[in-house]
Amino acid sequence: MRKVRKALIPAAGLGTRFLPATKTIPKEMLPVVDQPILLYVIEEAVRAGIEDIILVAGRGKHAIEDFFDRSYEVEDQLLKSGRKDLLERIVRIRDMANIISIRQKEALGLGHAVYCGHPVIGDEDFAVLLGDEIMHTEKDEPTVIAQLSQIFSETGLSTVAIMEVAAAEVEKYGIIAGEKTAAGYFKITDVVEKPARHLAPSRNALPGRYVFTSKIFDSLKNAKPGKNGEIQLTDAMAAIAKSEGMIGAYFKANRYDAGDKLGYLQANIEFALMREDLGPQLKAYLKELAAKL
Ligand code: UTP
Repeated sequence: MRKVRKALIPAAGLGTRFLPATKTIPKEMLPVVDQPILLYVIEEAVRAGIEDIILVAGRGKHAIEDFFDRSYEVEDQLLKSGRKDLLERIVRIRDMANIISIRQKEALGLGHAVYCGHPVIGDEDFAVLLGDEIMHTEKDEPTVIAQLSQIFSETGLSTVAIMEVAAAEVEKYGIIAGEKTAAGYFKITDVVEKPARHLAPSRNALPGRYVFTSKIFDSLKNAKPGKNGEIQLTDAMAAIAKSEGMIGAYFKANRYDAGDKLGYLQANIEFALMREDLGPQLKAYLKELAAKL
């Protein structure tokens, strides 16, 4: 059984859809209710048994690093004021995994961000979780990365999450071509980055959760800029699909594209509704508001 122990989280994009908020703060650090988007993503990886988290950050790297460091001032204040529950939450964050921070000096594309992790990951298998997407699963259910890791350990092939999108949405995603297997997965034959609707090989899109063998680095090493002048992860994936083979699998989770304004607002509302301390009040407010709309 091959076990995935490392996860890479790219968080070095420019976040232009969230400007001006993201001029100084990486979008992955924007809060959903009261914790950064990034923390939900890390929790997903940790619940899947990941031990080392490689964060690829750009501008605003310090905001990310500081978040996982001890803050004597904050912890001392919480201790003195007897806020034990909050203190425990803060301490748990810094102890939850080994956080390794890497810099992507220039936002040259997602493929380049993943390649920046090569010196740390070496020839190990690893997971990639986009730092601006939240996948919610119940506490007793496997997280999306756990679902992919399970298939990976059974097949030994790179395994990526896929989801069906509307025809009008294909141009926002990487789209796979593939053949359905007896096990209900897809054997991926090609990957196309943000195709025009009439050129899309399917409606199966890549939402941003992957488990790769280290062979992906070989493809990324010599990758040339692709669509939009960026080094695309999808181009390297297409090469792996054609050489080693790659599996696409539907996942079970509620997905929030928190890097998009509407997805971000939806995540805030839904996560707040799930909270005991906020849910009932927010629900009453939303009902009142809906009646006025
Ligand atoms: P996105 O395309 O959603 O991020 O990349 P972006 O470019 O920051 O977004 P907009 O369109 O300008 O608002 C998906 C993920 O890949 C990371 C981003 O931080 C995000 O988590 N990324 C993207 C990098 O780390 N480096 C890059 O060069 C590009």
